[in-house]
Amino acid sequence: MTKRLFTGLLFSAACLSAMAQQAYMVDKDVAVFYPANYDAAAHSPSPVFVHELVPQGNVPGNWKVKPVYSKEGDKTVVTLNVNADDDLYGTGEVVGDLRRNGKEVNFWNTDNYGYMKEQGKQLYQSHPWVLGVRKDGSAYGIIADNTWKSSLTTNQQIKFVSEGPAFRVIVIERANAKEVMKELAKLSGTMEMPPLWALGFQQCRYSYNPDSRVKEIIDTYRAKNIPCDVVWMDIDYMDQFKVFTYDPKQFPDPQGLQDYAHAKNFKTVYMIDPGVKVEDGYFVYDQGKANDYFVKMPDGTNYTGRVWPGDCNFPDYTRHEVRTWWSGLTSDFVKKGVDGLWNDMNEPAVFDSQTFTMDTEAVHWGDENRDKGSHLRYHNVYGYNMIKASREGMLLAKPNNRPFVLSRDNFLGGHRYGATWTGDNMSTWDHFQMSIPMTLNLSLSGQPFNGPDMGGFGADADAELLAHWTATGIYFPFARNHAAKGTVDQEPWVFGQKVEDVCRTAIERRYRLMPYIYTLFQEATVNGMPVMRPAFMADDKDPALRGEQKVFMLGDDLMIIPRWAKADNIHIPSGDWDVLQLEDKDDMYQAFVAQRPGSIVPMGNVAQSTIELDQNTLTLLVNPAEDGTATGVLYQDAGDGFGYRTGEYAKFQLSAKTEGDNITVSIKQVDGKMDMGQKNIRIGFVTDGKITYSPYVQGNEVTMKTVKDKQMGIDLKKLKFSDIDPSKQPTIQEKLKIQVEKMKKSGQAMEW
Ligand code: GLC
Repeated sequence: MTKRLFTGLLFSAACLSAMAQQAYMVDKDVAVFYPANYDAAAHSPSPVFVHELVPQGNVPGNWKVKPVYSKEGDKTVVTLNVNADDDLYGTGEVVGDLRRNGKEVNFWNTDNYGYMKEQGKQLYQSHPWVLGVRKDGSAYGIIADNTWKSSLTTNQQIKFVSEGPAFRVIVIERANAKEVMKELAKLSGTMEMPPLWALGFQQCRYSYNPDSRVKEIIDTYRAKNIPCDVVWMDIDYMDQFKVFTYDPKQFPDPQGLQDYAHAKNFKTVYMIDPGVKVEDGYFVYDQGKANDYFVKMPDGTNYTGRVWPGDCNFPDYTRHEVRTWWSGLTSDFVKKGVDGLWNDMNEPAVFDSQTFTMDTEAVHWGDENRDKGSHLRYHNVYGYNMIKASREGMLLAKPNNRPFVLSRDNFLGGHRYGATWTGDNMSTWDHFQMSIPMTLNLSLSGQPFNGPDMGGFGADADAELLAHWTATGIYFPFARNHAAKGTVDQEPWVFGQKVEDVCRTAIERRYRLMPYIYTLFQEATVNGMPVMRPAFMADDKDPALRGEQKVFMLGDDLMIIPRWAKADNIHIPSGDWDVLQLEDKDDMYQAFVAQRPGSIVPMGNVAQSTIELDQNTLTLLVNPAEDGTATGVLYQDAGDGFGYRTGEYAKFQLSAKTEGDNITVSIKQVDGKMDMGQKNIRIGFVTDGKITYSPYVQGNEVTMKTVKDKQMGIDLKKLKFSDIDPSKQPTIQEKLKIQVEKMKKSGQAMEW
């Protein structure tokens, strides 16, 4: 216990009983508050924290953000008063604006096609977490350590209402929002390095079947020279939607399919849902039944609900032995020719239930670490516990590969086990635009690896939407095009040559930026900093940036301005940001990518997949600060495997200095013991957006003549935005109407 912690004023006993029975510091400027009669067994183990919180001293009396506990009927209420003019963020996967002030979120994970149920107030995941940023830039984070069904309203009074017993609240105080995110990561852990291929562009659809169609997709990507790393298998690869099976006619040879994909530098990801079809003779059901592995009703029968295959039982992932069983099934499955896993419908989604999920009185048995409890308690961590088992299963099958699991359902802290996407959005402009604040708020809730279905899932995409969505979406951490059954195809080439070219250019940009993107992911594994960041993080003292939700940052050094964002309604950080001219020709769709003054961004060359990336041939894009200097970082490793844990990586310091008319850029390994071999580097010198390239040189240093004529800052008036007016595009309702008509005509059922 540090002396400093004890120098603050202690809570008086009277003050404590009005608010919380006990409160301790658990880290520097991090306090935990316990309610009176705290029932630890009803909440532990916490899914949020990697280590149990250890008291380190008393909370100073001048502590600013404090919970007050009360009751509303049977419900537990916790309120925290904050300043009226604080800006609030986070709160997980949410629809609406970036700023979360005056919003309501229900923490009850729900299958929510088109975000239409409950006006989108309850989606697939729960993150009982608020990030608050004060006018002076100082910031705080609030964690409600509670998985029970609950809700959150965010006003001057932040209010959690829970159907479970009173829970502890953790409050982080920091100098700014970035430092709060780092502390959240310190407490809740960081994700592990994903395989490099998972950062590549990915193509999905509900569904590509039979396997010849999968091969066709792979071949078309390669024939058209559009970079792509992953092809996804949705439920139709299964035998009658039974998990851990393959359709014997349509997917007779998964290993052969994987070999085919690998030969073309593609990876394969397969969907696995939690619902196990009730069918005697089906091995997964037989094993689950024989060992009593399914979630029960209070009368002891298995809970049964309908999902894709019909009536299903659901594994009780609160039990250690069930998770072990699931890991084993996963491992066997993965060994048959699978590179990554996609866990869906794991809220769990149930079609024939009025609540779209299990009955709240369903019983989860728990294990040596957690008590038996009702679905009311365990619902929100159903997917969390599932993907924990899935990840283990992948590791069992391939101990030398980094697991990749994508999950629709999750909980605060679940970024440790899987990446996520934002579920069933729609191919509409409002969902496209909203995907920016959604991804940002999930990122500000501790989940760095997330993104939407690019092009939109439900309803038909069209040429303009796909072109713009791809041109913006490739800067999101997770970049996958996916569409629902019954909608038109939306691969990059289906809307004609123009859109195909726009998509190719955009996707090539992602691959060119891969050295920088991979470095950002590595940063997230170390300190939890989001890969995609809100514009206000570039300057937390600029009030105009607090609500900016069209422009966003990729790391600290690149700012992305979507082409449809109009100059008169966006705010950009001040400073000599330069919009990069990344191609010779402008197609009027590519997002403007602006580089921070004083930064060096490492770029590679176009490759058709991450396997083909040449890690040693680099363009070091330099936008010098006024004094002619610039710095940057580059992280490299094998792209897969765990060697990095024992130092098999290389971290480089990039530095630039100007002397007279010359600028010199150097690259120096400062960490890690991996020898990446000789570098072939050139400078891309940025002035007023134009990039002037030096010749490539072999070695660690390159010098070129500087180019003068530098402008100060982005002149928004000079940027040519696209003509499209997002507010004039069809709404979800209009799109759905068209969709329903189309389906009625074709005799198809509405299916997604
Ligand atoms: C769910 C998923 C979607 C998937 C579909 C069929 O709606 O969210 O991505 O395509 O199920 O498996």
